[in-house]
Amino acid sequence: MLLDLVVSVLAAGAWIASALVRNRLLVSFAIAATAARAVTVALLAGSGWWFVQDKVTLTLPLLLAFAVVAMVRRTPTAYLAAGYAALAGPVFTLLHGYPATWTSGLITVALVGGGATLTARVRGATRLRAAAVASATVLMVGVVLSFVAAPSAVDSFGTVSLSSLRGPDSPVPGGTVRRFDLTARQATVTLASGATVRAWTFNGQVPGPPLTAAVGDLVEVTLHNADIAGGADGRSASSRGGVTLHWHGYDVPAAEDGVPGLTQDAVAPGQSFVYRFRADRAGTYWYHTHEVSNEGVRMGLYGSLVVTGSAPSPAGVDLTLPLHTFNGSTVVGASDVVESRSVVPGTTVRLRLINTDNTPRVVGVVGSPVRVAAVDGTDLNEPDPVEEAGLRIAAGGRYDVTFTMPDRPVALRIAHSSSGLSFLPPGASVAPSADVGSWPVLDLLHYGHPAATPFGAGSRFDRSFTLVLDRGLAGTSYAYTVNGDAFPDVPTEVVRQGDLVRFTIVNRSQDIHPWHLHGHRVLVLSRDGSAPTGSPLWLDTFDVRPGEVWQVAFRADNPGIWMNHCHNLAHADQGMVLHLAYEGVRSDFHGAHGG
Ligand code: C2O
Ligand code: CU
Repeated sequence: MLLDLVVSVLAAGAWIASALVRNRLLVSFAIAATAARAVTVALLAGSGWWFVQDKVTLTLPLLLAFAVVAMVRRTPTAYLAAGYAALAGPVFTLLHGYPATWTSGLITVALVGGGATLTARVRGATRLRAAAVASATVLMVGVVLSFVAAPSAVDSFGTVSLSSLRGPDSPVPGGTVRRFDLTARQATVTLASGATVRAWTFNGQVPGPPLTAAVGDLVEVTLHNADIAGGADGRSASSRGGVTLHWHGYDVPAAEDGVPGLTQDAVAPGQSFVYRFRADRAGTYWYHTHEVSNEGVRMGLYGSLVVTGSAPSPAGVDLTLPLHTFNGSTVVGASDVVESRSVVPGTTVRLRLINTDNTPRVVGVVGSPVRVAAVDGTDLNEPDPVEEAGLRIAAGGRYDVTFTMPDRPVALRIAHSSSGLSFLPPGASVAPSADVGSWPVLDLLHYGHPAATPFGAGSRFDRSFTLVLDRGLAGTSYAYTVNGDAFPDVPTEVVRQGDLVRFTIVNRSQDIHPWHLHGHRVLVLSRDGSAPTGSPLWLDTFDVRPGEVWQVAFRADNPGIWMNHCHNLAHADQGMVLHLAYEGVRSDFHGAHGG
């Protein structure tokens, strides 16, 4: 992608220079760079049509056409036009991206043609003016058409009200009701190092209180809002204010999902809201506000949700450790320094690591082999012990890491951070250290052992959707886009209950996009065309890195309207959000925002 950009700029430079100074060599160089561009596009096409669609259908033909004209006419104007055409490639990719449409194509052609005419020293001012007027007209028509054609989300149809899709109000027989009260309020929190943070908290603490339950229980959480009203930085977008609770990775009934403007109204200061759902699957999850979530989560409105199996869990050390960045330093659990704890050799240790930041985090365990027992709440099949492996957790993702305490010290270390956790056998005092960021990263697609899944790459899918992630102009902002649009203009994906659904997710941009679908966990079918060779991977948040293509699948078994978004919440805030709606379900809230 980068190479293609460089070649385009070189070609543009050479053509434009040829227009200014007469030089055979320059012209040959321009021709060579133009040919090279065709090669880079062909190479890029090997990774998938999505990466070259705009180039193949628009900017490359444009460049070639103008280059041919320039070679035949050999006038400065023709050279200049070829230069602009070459420049249109990267400019189009950066500003508009995927997909190239008729309107965007018209605008581009008009700009190249009009631009060359206007800047060239053409004899005959009338011709010049006519051309300028013509291209301006084409431009206006293109712009108007693109507004008329703008699609939008459809969440207000259907006969089933989303608000009716609430959780049950009793546990299963034998289960208990777990009641929690969470009050969102501003507080100044003092960390272990002595540093203080002005935070948004649940019950005055960061992270919020850990919520735990056993399979079969009913979880009932009452959320109160004391004083979370607007943005900490006074942005107008934050004036919506308020708080909600979203159960990240836990597939609760739709009305309990905590998305303001879609499943409920945000809870304003002085108000409260009761969430109820059954604990029906064991694992490590988390909760966070979904109102102005980029700011809210960053400021501290998050906590862990751990559900244990119905059988009593084996004795051992079981720690839940959200990783979060406050003022540039990493808080592991609730501490920003390396805490030590004494552990008797032979003890089983389970670390439930939760990445609550916007970008991936790499962690490692020094001094003992570990197993990644579970990812995103689901156990992996036969995970092998690994040593000196970087464990890279996607934003929003969770790794359950286990090891048996040896008779020497062990340490959890976090790349680019001085915080961590030490495990010392009695008598020991010094924990080992290592730069875990330099360890090879464990690839989950090749970890553990295969097992049967209810569906797979060979299944017949009832619906298939493609999401091309990019950056570009959407409306008036330079947004993070899905198929060229930004929320709320990304068309809603509609499924029917029972459908087997496949998503293809393509990252054309230079950023990592941790993709997250609410209400469902997805099975990974492939990454860049290769299927996983290890354990089946059920994830709710996975990093789609630049240039990657992922295929995932899920069963539509949880009716509602669900957010489907990038969990780099800053990207979500700038448009990288859409909805997945079940046929017949309608939202009663008209917030038209994704929180
Ligand atoms: Cu954890 Cu919609 O997010
Ligand atoms: Cu993103």
